[in-house]
Amino acid sequence: MKILVTGGTGYIGSHTVVELQARGYEVIIVDDLSNSSIDVLDNIAKISGKKPLFEKFNLTDQEKTTAFFKLHNDITAVIHFAAFKAVGESVEFPLMYYRNNLLSLVNILQGMIDNNIRDIVFSSSCTVYGQPDLLPAREDTPVQKAASPYGNTKQICEEIITDTSISGNIRGILLRYFNPIGAHDSAFIGELPLGIPNCLMPYITQTAIGKRPFLRVWGDDYDTPDGTAIRDYIHVVDLARAHVIAVERLTGEKCKKSVEVFNLGTGNGFSVMEVIKSFERTSGVKLNYEIMERRPGDIVKVWADTDFANEELGWKAEKNLDEMTRSAWNWELALEKKK
Ligand code: UD1
Repeated sequence: MKILVTGGTGYIGSHTVVELQARGYEVIIVDDLSNSSIDVLDNIAKISGKKPLFEKFNLTDQEKTTAFFKLHNDITAVIHFAAFKAVGESVEFPLMYYRNNLLSLVNILQGMIDNNIRDIVFSSSCTVYGQPDLLPAREDTPVQKAASPYGNTKQICEEIITDTSISGNIRGILLRYFNPIGAHDSAFIGELPLGIPNCLMPYITQTAIGKRPFLRVWGDDYDTPDGTAIRDYIHVVDLARAHVIAVERLTGEKCKKSVEVFNLGTGNGFSVMEVIKSFERTSGVKLNYEIMERRPGDIVKVWADTDFANEELGWKAEKNLDEMTRSAWNWELALEKKK
């Protein structure tokens, strides 16, 4: 079976490709390499022994997307990662985000319908919950008005898939990720942020390796035990495994509805300070950090109710916080060695 992975050279995409290959799937990646490197293909092959098929183009190009699907109408299912994902940038350039994230999905769904490809797994986010009134966040926790154009594209994409499933022959699984961190144990693939990272984990490892002078901890006066904000960090390999299970649920006719939604988290919340302590423990490096004002737009705390994913998908995140921070550090060290 051939699986299309859009954004397959990116962070979560590349880890998912490796898991798909390990289960015997043939993978074809479409990526415009706007936020990833072609070298990822060789690094995937170092792990799996197999270089995935690859086509470079931007999925907002309808002609190219149509031609692609016509040529590859033997695709069994699509996992759609390709999207812009920086919250701050989306506030500055909203149309860039709406154009890229929405048009690519529309073109993909059209290509699927035209070629009788039914199944899609979509990369969504816990950002759709905003700051929930009740924790942990369940899949039926009300979706709140998005705080950024990025978040809004995730909500609209969920709606586009749902609407399309009603009229077209499309089935979807929407995976709402909490905070993916860490890297593959081999340290051949990992997160490669372009420029200054926004997210916590790459900022920590880049500070520890000396690329950044210090980490800014955004606020220590939140209503949490140590005052820093709480998130549900999940190892990217655990997350990647869930995509293979989602594909098999769709293709194996196990879905109970035409569109299903699952939270992908560990169910545990950790504060920024707890992540820093875990990192110091697993790396043996003392981290420079300073407490700053709160970051605008940040929520106080969120973590996942994972019961539905555990029961229905038969999937559970297995790796703990120390395994996440250790693998993130090993990846940073591997990047440093390559220089
Ligand atoms: C961000 C996105 C979210 C996306 C998720 C996936 C926002 C508002 N949301 O979540 O939509 O799905 O990534 O990865 O950006 N922190 C610091 N110093 C730093 C960086 C982060 O203290 O230099 C803190 C943040 O304030 C936050 C925590 O670390 O409390 C996690 O931040 P981050 O990694 O940026 O993720 P989120 O903001 O939770």
